[in-house]
Amino acid sequence: MADQVKPFLKYAGGKQWLSRRIIDRLPKHICYVEPFGGMGAVLMAKQKSTVEVWNDIDGGLANTMRIVKYHPQALADELDYMLIHRSERLHWRDCGGETDIQRAARWIMVRHSGYQGGTGKGFHVGRSRAAKPVDSLVEQMRAVSRRLSGVAIEHLPWQRVFDLYDSQESVFFCDPPYADGDQTMYGHPFAEADHRLLAERLRAIKGQWVLTYGDHPLIRELYAGCCIEEARRVRTINQAARREYVELIITP
Ligand SMILES: C[S@@+](CC[C@H](N)C(=O)[O-])C[C@H]1O[C@@H](n2cnc3c(N)ncnc32)[C@H](O)[C@@H]1O
Repeated sequence: MADQVKPFLKYAGGKQWLSRRIIDRLPKHICYVEPFGGMGAVLMAKQKSTVEVWNDIDGGLANTMRIVKYHPQALADELDYMLIHRSERLHWRDCGGETDIQRAARWIMVRHSGYQGGTGKGFHVGRSRAAKPVDSLVEQMRAVSRRLSGVAIEHLPWQRVFDLYDSQESVFFCDPPYADGDQTMYGHPFAEADHRLLAERLRAIKGQWVLTYGDHPLIRELYAGCCIEEARRVRTINQAARREYVELIITP
């Protein structure tokens, strides 16, 4: 996998750990589309396709991906000036910044210096945790920037992405918000009706698809008759709380 690149930040629901298995299930295609892009872990890890599309409804994230793609040096310079400080971080979270480059730098730094990559009050430095270095973040970001060359970056609701890119040569890797998660976790509600609409849409498209979801009775019901594989992972929130959870890889 000559092109393999890793996401530059931890991201809720990120699929880096499952990317190999997902890539192995992608059928032959010309156009590769991620309607629920997030950090694009699968896109980063796969070989380039002729056409590639990354999309997300989160405007802060979409701006960050655009700036990473087109202005990596200006972004690295901006990051260089930012002192990672507990109180500054909360200010960055609440005051996005004046320019798109500044907004992207703050978006990144809030997560980079958050506990477990989160945007809450938790800070990345703790009794047994040293501050995470910015150098390796910038290095990974530059690799992502190169990988994004030729990738179309969209900021649309998922339905529009299907309208624009569906064809017999297209494959959609869909990684929507989980059915059992906080429906507003990504800042945009994704409710049962949305999960149902997505299932209907996938049954009707011309292209191929691969879908991932946390295990949930609603998802088992919606995709009954499809191929459903289980992947298990132990999630460690802290040393005391280790929980195994099951992710589903669904194909037609
Ligand atoms: C599970 S995450 C995707 C993670 C990604 N596969 C990765 O590896 O980082 C789901 C993403 O869907 C996006 N999303 C939520 N509702 C959406 C909608 N209606 N249209 C497009 N994207 C949406 C969220 O902003 C979030 O980034």
